[in-house]
Amino acid sequence: MHHATSAQNGTLSIEGVTLETIATQFGTPCYVYSKAAISANFLAYQAALAKKNHLICYAVKANSNLAVLQTLAQLGAGFDIVSVGELERVLRAGGDPAKVVFSGVAKTASDITRALELGIHCFNVESQAELVLLNSVAQACGKTAPVSLRVNPDVDAQTHPYISTGLKENKFGIDINLASTVYQQAAGMSHIEVVGVDCHIGSQLVTIEPFVAALERLLILVDQLADMGITLKHIDIGGGLGVRYDSEQPPTAEQYMSAILPLLANRSETLLLEPGRSIVANAGVLLTQVQFTKSNGDKHFAIVDAAMNDMIRPALYQAWMDIQPVQPSHAETLTYDVVGPVCETGDFLAKDRALAISAGDYLCLFSAGAYGFVMSSNYNSRTRAPEIMVDGEKLHLIRQRETFDDLVRGEHLLPAVSSC
Ligand code: LLP
Repeated sequence: MHHATSAQNGTLSIEGVTLETIATQFGTPCYVYSKAAISANFLAYQAALAKKNHLICYAVKANSNLAVLQTLAQLGAGFDIVSVGELERVLRAGGDPAKVVFSGVAKTASDITRALELGIHCFNVESQAELVLLNSVAQACGKTAPVSLRVNPDVDAQTHPYISTGLKENKFGIDINLASTVYQQAAGMSHIEVVGVDCHIGSQLVTIEPFVAALERLLILVDQLADMGITLKHIDIGGGLGVRYDSEQPPTAEQYMSAILPLLANRSETLLLEPGRSIVANAGVLLTQVQFTKSNGDKHFAIVDAAMNDMIRPALYQAWMDIQPVQPSHAETLTYDVVGPVCETGDFLAKDRALAISAGDYLCLFSAGAYGFVMSSNYNSRTRAPEIMVDGEKLHLIRQRETFDDLVRGEHLLPAVSSC
């Protein structure tokens, strides 16, 4: 995976620009992405799949900034979406709706109508009830809906329970043991065309085995369906490839594909993937500034200007993310909890880190390009951070910092009470 930053004598840069320059120019907190790193991560998948008919559908939820989607669309990416908002973003960024797959457990009739109107690649259907709705909406629109059933293969992804999706106890997908019955039902529907099968077993997987186990189960189903006369055009194995946050050693896209492709040898189905994190996580950082340091006895805190509303992963998943000063410092090295201004004990970015820092220093939170800005909120009436894309020596503001007016847009005071 391509890391967004490189250090020279302890000074961190992203492509040709130091992080200090970016923090000074745009203020903190701010998200910074490397266009080269995003592109390289996508191209690594493409290269690994050069010999197989494939479509790489970037999972928009990981980072949905228009400029990120535009970068990937220009490289030929398809997109995995889970809402109409994501679909409109893809369009706005120049993506091709014919390369869009629509996942998610709760698509509404209006979501479906819009997607049918645009002619997406397929609907990843997650329940029998959704299939029935899809057929009736397609009929009303005078269209045929391309369908792939998202099956739940009951494979343990061995990842954090909140981001594990392929077990029976998770809400996602159709039980693999029921799938052939649902396929038969789908094949008999007037406005449904069965085109594929898909699964997504979880996120931040650092070993290949669960992916292989899931695909093996999918292939048994695909062969059973063929015996029943239902032939599929594609097999979608979802996203989920992990990245290095700490000492994990996740497989590269090439290693991952070299475990998957032999299972598909002599098969004509197109392989679809839905990678998110592995394309953008290590292509982005969050910059923040130390406001104060303080000590309660032996416990040292660095209070920074980024908070859980900007980056919720440490609070929500106990995620460990690396954090370092952007410049070397002569300050004493102490063990800090790096905490934000939000009034919650859960508001931390990092705990127990040895850092040589003092007030005013800028810090870089690494691997923040995925599930960072997109999960940010306005909690505590904090405005959301800007996003900057570095392209070589050039800096592009791809989302401006929110203002107070942005915060209250759409809110209304009650009418004044008349005094008579
Ligand atoms: N396809 C589907 C149907 C998904 O639900 C997901 C992610 C992906 C693809 C992309 O998975 P990836 O390649 O990014 O692992 N917010 C959490 C991660 C949630 C993932 C949800 N689904 C985090 O910050 O760790």
